[in-house]
Amino acid sequence: MPSYHLFLLPGDGIGPEVMAEVEKVIHAFESDGLATFEIEKGLVGGCAYDAHGAAISDADMARAEAADAVLLAAVGGPKWASVPYEVRPEAGLLRLRKDLGLYANLRPAVCYPALASASSLKPEVVEGLDIMIVRELTGGVYFGEPKEIVDLGNGQKRAIDTQVYDTYEIERIGRVAFDLARKRGNKVTSAEKHNVMKSGVLWKDVITALHKREYADVQLEHQLADALGMQLVRWPKQFDVIVTDNLFGDMLSDVAAMLTGSLGMLPSASLGDQNPKTGKRKAMYEPVHGSAPDIAGKGAANPIAMIASFGMALRYSFGAGAAADRLDAAIASVLADGFRTADIKSDGCTLVSTMAMGDAIVSALGKSAA
Ligand code: NAD
Ligand code: IPM
Ligand code: MN
Repeated sequence: MPSYHLFLLPGDGIGPEVMAEVEKVIHAFESDGLATFEIEKGLVGGCAYDAHGAAISDADMARAEAADAVLLAAVGGPKWASVPYEVRPEAGLLRLRKDLGLYANLRPAVCYPALASASSLKPEVVEGLDIMIVRELTGGVYFGEPKEIVDLGNGQKRAIDTQVYDTYEIERIGRVAFDLARKRGNKVTSAEKHNVMKSGVLWKDVITALHKREYADVQLEHQLADALGMQLVRWPKQFDVIVTDNLFGDMLSDVAAMLTGSLGMLPSASLGDQNPKTGKRKAMYEPVHGSAPDIAGKGAANPIAMIASFGMALRYSFGAGAAADRLDAAIASVLADGFRTADIKSDGCTLVSTMAMGDAIVSALGKSAA
């Protein structure tokens, strides 16, 4: 039986609540004989700042480096609103992504059949939806220098963020998108704003050249990022794979979340390059949502985004696609049986807590093993 080393970072707010549920799922797969999962836990975000004054310690960074996969739940919250910028909770998450080289963030937005009516859009707009947003995660305006607030000395300040992309960064994320498209609907939509931004001009040129050179068999379309936001809510089923930069990808994936019913439904995988010798890659699995301070501590959070993020770990880190499919089927069946956390509740359904949703998914998994 293979053995994997998982490093869990529950973080803040609803983070520990949803992490507790994915742990049940991990143990269920272990009991089934899929693999042995050696679990280690660390601190990231506000809880790490409270413990040692940094959003993640060097020791926990080293543990993340050494793990076969990292699972991170969520960071941040109003408690840390006034801590110094450099050690704010979100800095821990950004350091993990940057230092582990996790440049490819896969954010699938899938509308489970039972949730077509949970979306704020008409059911026919979202029914059967299955799109993949590929967000560049270690570049762009998130990390470009200079990034500072300058005192102009006349009572004015100037805030500077810098959007930077090099050819190689666009090419490697483009490859991830085209390779994924070949295994899905064979279509890539690339989003930028070449009408305003130099980085958009380069983005479009590099994606176009890469397509011509290596992926001419895949359908490629370009959309301006603002128009793509509109198309996502007008007719999202026109998309298969969307590839875009760090900031546009952040915003567009929150929009896409509502196509699936809730932000609490969207998982993600943050991946680095595969080592050609070992076949292994650095990877962190993290729901798209945040620490949801408004519902934290109430047992009301939807754990599905976190649980489905582990499903992505099964698929992308552990070569266990069949187990990932079983987990997806377990989630679908629990939803079909009418179990709903508050964010996806509808008339006639059974309102359940975070824990009860986790238990129901574990129980559905057990049935599929029998
Ligand atoms: P959020 O994603 O935490 O919450 C937005 C809304 O969605 C809230 O109403 C919340 O209750 C709801 N929601 C989110 N996840 C849910 C879940 N699993 N189940 C049910 N409802 C859910 O975004 P925010 O309120 O803008 O940010 C709160 C904090 O989280 C901020 O500090 C932000 O920086 C941080 N954040 C962290 C991450 C991360 O750790 N990956 C991601 C996004 C935001
Ligand atoms: C996300 C979050 C993060 C981001 C924040 C918390 C740094 O919004 O993962 O979508 O902006 O990337
Ligand atoms: Mn976000």
